Amino acid sequence: MSPYQLTRTLPEDATDAALRADVLHGLTRTPKSLPPKWFYDARGSELFEEITTLDEYYPTRAEREILLARAPEIAAATGARTLVELGSGSSEKTRHLLDELPVPHAYVPVDVSESALVGAAESLLVERPGLQVHALIADFTKELELPDTPGPRLVAFLGGTIGNLLPDERADFLASVRAMLVPGDALLLGTDLVKDESVLVRAYDDASGVTAAFNKNVLAVVDRELGADFDPADFDHVALWNSDQRWIEMRLRARRALTVKIRELDLVVAFEAGEEMRTEVSAKFTEDSVRTELAGAGMELAHWWTDEAERFALSLATAV
Ligand SMILES: C[S@@+](CC[C@H](N)C(=O)[O-])C[C@H]1O[C@@H](n2cnc3c(N)ncnc32)[C@H](O)[C@@H]1O
Repeated sequence: MSPYQLTRTLPEDATDAALRADVLHGLTRTPKSLPPKWFYDARGSELFEEITTLDEYYPTRAEREILLARAPEIAAATGARTLVELGSGSSEKTRHLLDELPVPHAYVPVDVSESALVGAAESLLVERPGLQVHALIADFTKELELPDTPGPRLVAFLGGTIGNLLPDERADFLASVRAMLVPGDALLLGTDLVKDESVLVRAYDDASGVTAAFNKNVLAVVDRELGADFDPADFDHVALWNSDQRWIEMRLRARRALTVKIRELDLVVAFEAGEEMRTEVSAKFTEDSVRTELAGAGMELAHWWTDEAERFALSLATAV
């Protein structure tokens, strides 16, 4: 028997149905786009882990610095007996938090990437044989069925992943997190902060091309899952700062005019030379914007911590 529980809250084919719907919707409109959650097959999750080690990619180091400094305070302020982590990936930084929570406690990592969840659960249990791990393969933008574990619960959403949601999606997402919280529960939110454009763009366009490979991985996912014939070599990676929206946009730009067949959708998609398809936004925040968005969802900012260079912030929020 597995030493941890792995629960798929969606039927196997729900992922497939969601991918079909997203690809059909995103590639038949102008401008074209694909949602970022489809980056994360096993290869995409590996590439993301590689990104977190790059010199240019400061968010992981900055957030780790805050967690290392503040985990005891977070544990004391929340007294959490269950840590629910949305978009948990490798759960690498989360270890600093688990180290400080009252024992015993349960850990509920939630991710669309089964390979990331399995890898994280197995390595956590090597280090912490008694830890209760209930891993959920689920989409955190949909209603979650959380396991019955002891309260209070701390819901963590780290890595700045909230910035990958569009403003309306963020509001819906925060409202659904608020609905998960009962008195005594809290949200720990990691947000990347507005800063110099060149620092931001470099973080999404590294010199060694790992982020470019990560961006193009979505094409490999659509090829494999939907029988498409995208050739990643036909596209260039683009990262740019949109100062109106205060987000980084990643795009894929067609190097030439081309058509792509998507067999499973019975669809042919034409790209003009130079046409760009948006694959990710990564919104950047300020203390005021975080406070306002939390308040809009019925939550109150209780603590705001940044790294020393004020590149990244962790917010602790409770329901009002
Ligand atoms: C930017 S990575 C962050 C990983 C980790 N939290 C960190 O801080 O390093 C985003 C993670 O969220 C997961 N993810 C993205 N969209 C998701 C969704 N809609 N539902 C569940 N997981 C999602 C990805 O598989 C990936 O592991």
